[in-house]
Formats: sequence, structure tokens, C-alpha cells
Amino acid sequence: MSELNLILLGPPGAGKGTQAARLRKDFDLAYIATGELLRHHVDQATELGKEASSYMDAGKLVPDPLVIAMILSKVEDEGDDGFLLDGFPRNDAQADALAEELDGLGRRLTAALYVAAPDDVVVERLSGRRQCANGHIQHVTFDPPKVDNMCDLCGRPLKQRKDDMPEVVQKRLATYHEQTEALIDYYEDKGLLRRFDGTRSPTEVHDHIRATLATLRLEERL
Ligand code: AP5
Repeated sequence: MSELNLILLGPPGAGKGTQAARLRKDFDLAYIATGELLRHHVDQATELGKEASSYMDAGKLVPDPLVIAMILSKVEDEGDDGFLLDGFPRNDAQADALAEELDGLGRRLTAALYVAAPDDVVVERLSGRRQCANGHIQHVTFDPPKVDNMCDLCGRPLKQRKDDMPEVVQKRLATYHEQTEALIDYYEDKGLLRRFDGTRSPTEVHDHIRATLATLRLEERL
């Protein structure tokens, strides 16, 4: 079976991380999540983390040289049998760097999975999102924990991300519209874009993505 090299696109809060968790189980792909990696660097107070945190707390993109080097080395080290990139690329320069890297490795993207959701929906989702130290995601209204503030999956405390505060969410959305949204056309022009309605339930979005990937694989074999 051919490898799956996927990227997840979409505004903050569209459900990229939620879908990534399901797709990883389905396909056993190397999962490379830029935000998660950056937050790890911040927690560990590495040089990269110290530099990145001011951008993240302001809802801005971390400068390209830092992010591109971090992600491409992960693709090279871990992505041999296929990968799922969540949160990268986020602008044209990052998309070009990824294309160049894959070209150099003699590989290609299978699809850009675009999970769409309007601003009002994502603001509501992010303000209620809670996450545990293991990265499991819940929502105070849409997926409430069985025990208050404790993760259903691992029992660890659930916390609110610093950048899910309302004023930072607005800035992240503005950054998305200014710098990342253009990638929809970028991948559409290359025939790689697949659209999904992120306002549907997580299971419906997941079913749609799986069906789309199954069709892509069938087409590849014809
Ligand atoms: P990152 O961590 O990548 O954040 P993001 O893209 O803003 O995405 P989120 O994690 O906020 O949302 P999501 O789409 O994964 O939604 P989720 O599944 O959690 O980036 C953080 C920061 O790092 C950036 O702001 C930037 O500073 C920096 N950074 C990252 N990548 C970078 C790059 N490439 N270059 C430079 N800087 C970079 O769902 C949200 C909530 O909704 C959850 O509570 C969930 O339970 C709920 N939910 C999900 N799906 C549904 C559904 N279908 N119905 C109802 N509820 C749902």
C-alpha cells in the first residue's frame, strides 16, 4: 500500500487536533504537530521555546527559520512510512520549503485536508477547550469531562491553553486570515486540496476524511 503524506489545514479550533488523533489510530502515521512541539519547547525552556513563547502568546506565527528547520528534520527522521502534519505549513514560505524537501526526498504530498469552520464557531470551541498534559482534548460543553476538570482518557488535570484566552484567540484568527488562508488556493491549484465541513460532529468529519482517503488510494491503484 502506498504511503500517506498528509497535511491538516484550517483555522484555529476547526478540529485539526481532534481529527489527527483519530487518523493516527486509523493509519499509524508519524504525527508532527507544530503547536504541540513548540509548547513542549516552551515548557522545557529551551532556546527555541524562549524565543517562540512571545510570538505564541501574542497569537502570531513563530518566525519561519525556527519552525521550518524543526519540522523538516522531523519529516526526515520520522516520516519515512508516511506522516500527518498538523499546523504546518502556515504560509507560502513554509509550503514552498515543504515542497522542496519532499522533492529532494523523491516523495510527494497525498492531500491537504482542509477542515473549515467559521470564526464564531471556533471562538466558542476554543474558549471551552481543555487539554491534559498528555495532549487529550475535551470541551466543557461539547465533550464535558465525567469528573470536573479531569481528563476522561488518562485522569490527569485538564487545563486551558494560554493562547485560548479570548483576546489571543481573536489575534490567532486574524493571523490565520492574513497568512494561512491563502494556502487553500495554493493546494487547490496543485489539485491536492480536500475540503471538510468542520461544523459537523467529530465522527461525521472523521468518516468523511476516511472515505476521501480511501477513494484517493483506490484512484492511485487504477
Ligand atoms: P496550534 O497548536 O497548531 O494551534 P491552532 O492551529 O491554532 O489549532 P488549535 O490547536 O487551536 O485547534 P484545532 O484545529 O487543533 O482544534 P481542536 O481539535 O483542538 O498552534 C499554536 C501556536 O503555535 C500558533 O498560534 C503559533 O504561534 C504557533 N505555530 C504553530 N504552528 C506554526 C507554524 N507552522 N508557523 C509558525 N508558528 C506556528 O478543537 C478545538 C475544540 O473544539 C476542542 O475543545 C474540541 O473538543 C472541539 N471540537 C473539535 N471538533 C469539533 C466538532 N466537530 N464539533 C464540536 N466540537 C469540536
